[in-house]
Amino acid sequence: MLWTDKYRPQTFKELLGNGKSKKQIEHWVNEWKKGNPQKPLLLVGPAGIGKTSLAYIIAKEFSEHIELNASDKRSYDILMSTIGESSSTHSLFGESYKLLILDEVDGINGNDDRGGSRAINKIIKESKQPMIMMANDFYSKRLTTIKTKCLVIKMTKVHTNSVGAALKKICRKEGIDFDPEAIKVLAKNSNGDMRAAINTLQAASEDGEKFELSNLDNISQKDNTNNIFDTVRTVLKSRTVNHIKPDMMIDEDPTLVMEYIAENIPHEYEKPSEIKNAYENIAKADLYFGRARATRDYTYWRYASDFMGPGVALSKKETYRKFTRLTGAQAFRLMGQTRGKRALRDRIAEKMENKMHVSLEVAYTMFPSFEIIFQNDEMAYEISSFLELEDDEIKRFRKRKIPKKVIKKMEKEINEAKRLEREELNKNIKTGIYRESTKKTLNKVKENAEEKVKDSKSDDDSNVISNENPEKENFKPEEKESKPKKSKKPKKEKESEKLDKGQTSLFSF
Ligand SMILES: Nc1ncnc2c1ncn2[C@@H]1O[C@H](COP(=O)(O)OP(=O)(O)OP(=O)(O)O)[C@@H](O)[C@H]1O
Ligand SMILES: [Mg+2]
Repeated sequence: MLWTDKYRPQTFKELLGNGKSKKQIEHWVNEWKKGNPQKPLLLVGPAGIGKTSLAYIIAKEFSEHIELNASDKRSYDILMSTIGESSSTHSLFGESYKLLILDEVDGINGNDDRGGSRAINKIIKESKQPMIMMANDFYSKRLTTIKTKCLVIKMTKVHTNSVGAALKKICRKEGIDFDPEAIKVLAKNSNGDMRAAINTLQAASEDGEKFELSNLDNISQKDNTNNIFDTVRTVLKSRTVNHIKPDMMIDEDPTLVMEYIAENIPHEYEKPSEIKNAYENIAKADLYFGRARATRDYTYWRYASDFMGPGVALSKKETYRKFTRLTGAQAFRLMGQTRGKRALRDRIAEKMENKMHVSLEVAYTMFPSFEIIFQNDEMAYEISSFLELEDDEIKRFRKRKIPKKVIKKMEKEINEAKRLEREELNKNIKTGIYRESTKKTLNKVKENAEEKVKDSKSDDDSNVISNENPEKENFKPEEKESKPKKSKKPKKEKESEKLDKGQTSLFSF
């Protein structure tokens, strides 16, 4: 069991920190109990400080509650029907309130943000029920209108001392010896994030041995979950490299951090030359991220981090004394939209890497050809079963599903071929299930791709870099993806014709 669940605070008293907020909330609960409807509560604050835990504690004060996640679209339908239902229940039975808990209202899922916040606004307006919402990002665009209708409770990080005390208590309960110094360091590194602190402690104590400083060597920095906005703020507001570097170690996708910094540069910096320099640094960081991805050598992240952190920070002459509202919605949305796509692409490329013994770079370069080859049902079947592609991965190369008829036919053929060849080939099993024709086509594509990658490497330096960033080429502009399809269409027909002829040849195993 996760210790974070095991030791989740059950009462207001057990929940550490945020004393004033707890008082406000207790008052809010009591007013509802007296029959005085209150504005919805909006708990805002960084990750792992007890917002969800607090909502559960509040829920205990009401006879019933429903809990939904705002980034899950279905939530709204459930909520809408529940509000109707429960407001009438309320009028019938007086006291029975149903507490609505809506978590992650600044959630990143769901592309139509406005739809999301409109729905929430409607719920707030129509519901006669007590309602709690939780969010991390106070400045999220989604919250702009919601905030005005709520009692906003800004929750702060848990104090290092309280974190330390809580960790020691857990150690005692779990019978784990600890070095107080190690607890102190962990508490400090977790930067108010109780969840991170407890998780790290559990991970480091898995073997039941004493919890010591050496346990922290590997994990402490990774689990230092600063809020992403803190990082952006430090980069934009500071010029002290020693402050910036530690603040950049957060448990977030570093490319997302870069997007956030990039998006906020023009909000903070005012001089054109500063903005220009800052973006030049972002561009360099982006190149190194591309390199890291293409070569899978993640030491490049260090350079990326130096450019997007100290590089951007030192692009300004002096720090601005002003309050800047940081934004993040745009980057979140963009990343949210492409994150799935990128993950899918990487999954496929990794399978190709393992099974076809090509580098990731070559794998990416083969994608457009796969789009063509996969138009042939049987080849699509053969290749995808060899690579063990899942349905969504096959969909990356062809919109239609492989017809059941074809799958059946191919399975039958394969089984038959297996049966026939088993006796004599038993001793000589090769990997791969391609028919000769598919094998040849695939080899050709692979060679071409390898050739292309090699060519691009021998070009001049700047070309090397842009070619080493296949993600940009394949994914950024949507048109780019569809272009090769169009221009290669006639070829596609030719290839599938050729393939049809080869259909009867046997598979090799
Ligand atoms: N203030 C706190 N006091 C005691 N334990 C806490 C506190 N905050 C967090 N924890 C521990 O961390 C775990 C995670 O906390 P919780 O889910 O409430 O965080 P959260 O603020 O909702 O985070 P997120 O913003 O990521 O949803 C809890 O189960 C509990 O073990
Ligand atoms: Mg939460």
